[in-house]
Amino acid sequence: MENDPFGLSGRTAVITGAGGGLGRTHAILFAKHGANVVVNDLGGKFDGSGKGSEMADSVVAEIKAAGGNAVANYDSVATAEGAAGIVKSAIDAFGRIDILVNNAGILRDKSFVNMTDEDWDIVFAVHVKGTYYCTKAAWPLLREQKYGRVVFTASASGIYGNFGQSNYSAAKMGLIGLGQTLALEGEKYNIRVNTIAPMAASRMTESLVPPHILEKLKPECVSPLVVYLCSEAIDVNGEVYEVGAGAVSRIEWLRSKGVAMRPDQISVEAVAAAWKQINDMTDSKILRSVGESTRATLAHCMG
Ligand SMILES: NC(=O)c1ccc[n+]([C@@H]2O[C@H](COP(=O)([O-])OP(=O)(O)OC[C@H]3O[C@@H](n4cnc5c(N)ncnc54)[C@H](O)[C@@H]3O)[C@@H](O)[C@H]2O)c1
Repeated sequence: MENDPFGLSGRTAVITGAGGGLGRTHAILFAKHGANVVVNDLGGKFDGSGKGSEMADSVVAEIKAAGGNAVANYDSVATAEGAAGIVKSAIDAFGRIDILVNNAGILRDKSFVNMTDEDWDIVFAVHVKGTYYCTKAAWPLLREQKYGRVVFTASASGIYGNFGQSNYSAAKMGLIGLGQTLALEGEKYNIRVNTIAPMAASRMTESLVPPHILEKLKPECVSPLVVYLCSEAIDVNGEVYEVGAGAVSRIEWLRSKGVAMRPDQISVEAVAAAWKQINDMTDSKILRSVGESTRATLAHCMG
C-alpha cells in the first residue's frame, strides 16, 4: 500500500468477536488500512448461547467487496483449542500474526443476589479466559518475531462498577490487570498491550441505552483508536483508554497523599482520626508501577 502511515499494510490482524458490533467495525477499518484480517466469531447470541458461521462470513464478504483481504473463523475464544484454531487461521491464510484484538464478549446481567454460578462462569470464560487463551496462543509467535500489537477490551463497568454487572465488571477489571502485566512482559519483544473501555451501540447495549443516545454511539467511533493502538510506531504500552462517540481519554489511578504514621502508631483510633486526610484527594498523585507504589508506602519509614 503506497500510503501506509500506520504500518498496517501486509500485517495480519486477528479480531475476535468480529461478526457484529465493535469487532465488525474494527475488522473493516483494519482491512481498509491494508491489513489482512481474520474475522473470528462464534456466531451465537449476546448471552453466549448458540453458534453459527453467518456472522463472520458476512463481515468477510463485506471486507472482500470493498477490496480487502479477510478470512472467517468460527471458533470459540473460550477454549484453548478454539484459540489455537483462531491463530492457526491467521497462519494458514496469511503466514503470520501481528495484531490481536480481543473483543469477543457476552453479557449475563443480573443483580448479585440473583447471579448464578453459571452466569458468573460463562462471563469469565468468554472475557477473561477467552482473552487469556487467544493471547497465550499468539504470544510465542509475537515474541519470536519481536513484533506484536495487542488490544484488550475492558469496560467502564469494570472501572467504576455497574449495578447488575458483578460478573462482567469483575471480568473486565481482570483484563486491565492482565493487560498491564503483559505490557511489562512483552515490552522488550516490541509487543505493546493496551486496553480500551469502549461505549457503542450494539446488540449488547440496544436494550440498556435510550435510542437518542445510541444514535451518537456508533461503533465506527471506537475503531480508529483500536487501529491506532495497533500501528507500528505506537508509543504507549499498558495504558487504558475510554472511547466512544468521538471522545477518547486515558485513564489513570490516583493515590491520595493520605497519612503516613509510624508502623507502631497505627490503630483503629488513629485511622479514624486521620480519615478526612486519608480521603482528601487534593495532593493526590498518579502512580505508574508496583515499584512506585511500594516506595510511596515505605517512604516515611526508610532511612
Ligand atoms: N458496546 C458497548 O458499549 C461496550 C461497552 C463496554 C465494553 N464492550 C465490550 O466490547 C466488546 C464487543 O461488544 P459489542 O458491544 O460489539 O457486542 P456484540 O455482541 O455485538 O459483539 C460481541 C461479539 O462477540 C462474539 N462472541 C461471543 N462469544 C464468543 C466466543 N466465545 N468466541 C468468539 N466470539 C464470541 C459475538 O458473537 C459477537 O459478535 C465486548 O467485549 C464487550 O464486552 C462493549
